[in-house]
Amino acid sequence: MVIKRIYLVGFMGSGKSTLGKRLRSELGWEFLDLDDYFEERYQMTIKQYFAQFGEDAFRLAEKELLLDVSQKERLIIATGGGAPCYFNNMQVMNDTGLTIYIKLSVETLAGRLSSARQVRPLVAGKSGTELHQYIEEKLQERDGFYNQAKVIADGEVLGVDGFVRIIKASGELM
Ligand code: S3P
Repeated sequence: MVIKRIYLVGFMGSGKSTLGKRLRSELGWEFLDLDDYFEERYQMTIKQYFAQFGEDAFRLAEKELLLDVSQKERLIIATGGGAPCYFNNMQVMNDTGLTIYIKLSVETLAGRLSSARQVRPLVAGKSGTELHQYIEEKLQERDGFYNQAKVIADGEVLGVDGFVRIIKASGELM
């Protein structure tokens, strides 16, 4: 298989953007963060967009942007945590590139997200216990989508080198 683009999927706080930026230099490809792309395109933060137009509108707009980036080549894409779980987005990604699920435990995600609560509308204002419970429930709901990724990577143990190895073993980079 020739890999034209790589989609990093996983829950909020799973490190998709951090990994994506490191893969950019390792692979010599471009990197795009779907959330940043959204904010640039709509000239507002995702938090503002949720407040003004609601989540359903956000999901539709997010889908359009995903279709848009699915045409670009030699690109690593960090998707929003919910992107794989709506419409046929997971199918679109699987049809057009290598999808990698960065799988992390609820504990790790809760630890990471507690410091980044304010910018993420879905977890804003939650206490530590509420956050933990929210992640647990949401992960259960979303796991079925994330697990459709071609590669399920253990984010607790894999370093960048490990990801690079898995990518190169999955196909030929364009
Ligand atoms: C969301 C995750 C966010 C962003 C939006 C909704 C989600 O992206 O797209 O706040 O539904 O999990 P990150 O996973 O990059 O935080």
